[in-house]
Amino acid sequence: MRTQVAIIGAGPAGLLLSHLLAAGGVESVVIETRTREYVESRIRAGILEHSTVELLKDAGLGERLLREGHEHRGIYLQWPSERHHIDFQDLVGRGVWVYGQTEVQKDLGRARDAAGQQIIYDVLDTTVHDPADPHVTFTVDGVPTRLDADVVVGCDGSFGPTRLVVPGKTWERTYAYSWLGVLADVAPSTDELIYAWHQDGFALNSMRSPTVTRLYLQVPPDTDIEEWSDERIWDALATRLGHGQDGWKLNPGPVMEKSVLPMRSFVQAPMRHGNVFLAGDAAHIVPPTGAKGLNLAVADVGLLAPALVAMLREKDSRPADEYSNRALRRVWRCTHFSWWMTTMLHASNDPFDAELQLSQLRWVASSTAAATGLAENYAGLPIGF
Ligand code: FAD
Ligand code: DHB
Repeated sequence: MRTQVAIIGAGPAGLLLSHLLAAGGVESVVIETRTREYVESRIRAGILEHSTVELLKDAGLGERLLREGHEHRGIYLQWPSERHHIDFQDLVGRGVWVYGQTEVQKDLGRARDAAGQQIIYDVLDTTVHDPADPHVTFTVDGVPTRLDADVVVGCDGSFGPTRLVVPGKTWERTYAYSWLGVLADVAPSTDELIYAWHQDGFALNSMRSPTVTRLYLQVPPDTDIEEWSDERIWDALATRLGHGQDGWKLNPGPVMEKSVLPMRSFVQAPMRHGNVFLAGDAAHIVPPTGAKGLNLAVADVGLLAPALVAMLREKDSRPADEYSNRALRRVWRCTHFSWWMTTMLHASNDPFDAELQLSQLRWVASSTAAATGLAENYAGLPIGF
């Protein structure tokens, strides 16, 4: 098989890249190791930045998002006996959207179906060869297959194989905690997300729709999910989120899904070697506290797609040459912001750290200058930042 761009991974980065390339007149083939059903039901991100929504709208992918998604003005920051609203709209003139990654994934899948995009699911043994003259080999339905391409893009997430052929420097930070994520069949107890510091550990009250709530609890990294009955989960959430405080109530409900999610920061640079490029989680991971991972993947692709169109159609390689440096500016900004939100909100056993965290939270909640910094980063910087 031959194509202009071979895309490894049919997550949001891979499918959006194939969509934007097609709009620019460049053909691609996407290969994916999982089944389509698996990819479309994986519960992950829930928050879209302003510029992510603008990009999806401009790409013709905003119709259901605007109808079924929910725009939020800001978030609540909370610690015991205090809850403060940080209003991004007032502070920086833009908010965020609640729209699950599962829905973004389905919208992308349908749009690619309508365009006749070739996406090969359920492949095994993906290997990327020779960045100077790239090709990809894999097995599908037991048949060894070779895909030749002008360019290969690794959109294959944090454990994908493409990164292995892109030499460079890596940075990594692990955290002394994980998240227990819960999807519950109950109406959200809050109009906007609550990020709660508590001495027992961080808690986050998010949502997916008017009838589905998404919640997270800070837990130790080696946590066995079996130790967390639904009752224990709701008790911990009630304590950490302040059930009963100023008359506020947390609505419990049936737990539909629960899992433990590890946390780390990771950056690989450069995001290109020869004609092999990296985009999204394949090149960088952030801890989820700032809601940045999906948005960073979209921002990478927002830069890479026009760069590849210029390279392959107009024989102008300058944007592709600039891609890695431009993408990494935003990656490091989001890496810092995600680390900052994470370390401000997660409890440690150190009483000195706790006082610093509470001091920082009081500052963000009471100073327009500090709150504006949070708002600008959370609502998101422009794609070309
Ligand atoms: P992925 O979505 O990981 O897609 C990579 C694809 O490549 C996968 O489908 C994988 O199966 C495929 N692949 C891997 N190996 C191979 C191979 N060998 N051959 C072929 N295909 C392969 N981000 C936010 O912005 N906001 C949030 O609120 C947020 N919350 C999150 C909550 C949770 C619980 C989790 C886990 C993540 C969250 N994130 C959030 C992060 C976000 O989900 C990721 O950053 C995002 O999925 C990255 O997209 P991607 O396309 O780069 O990678
Ligand atoms: C969600 C996940 C996050 O990491 C976050 O910061 C906010 C919301 C969510 O899944 O809804």
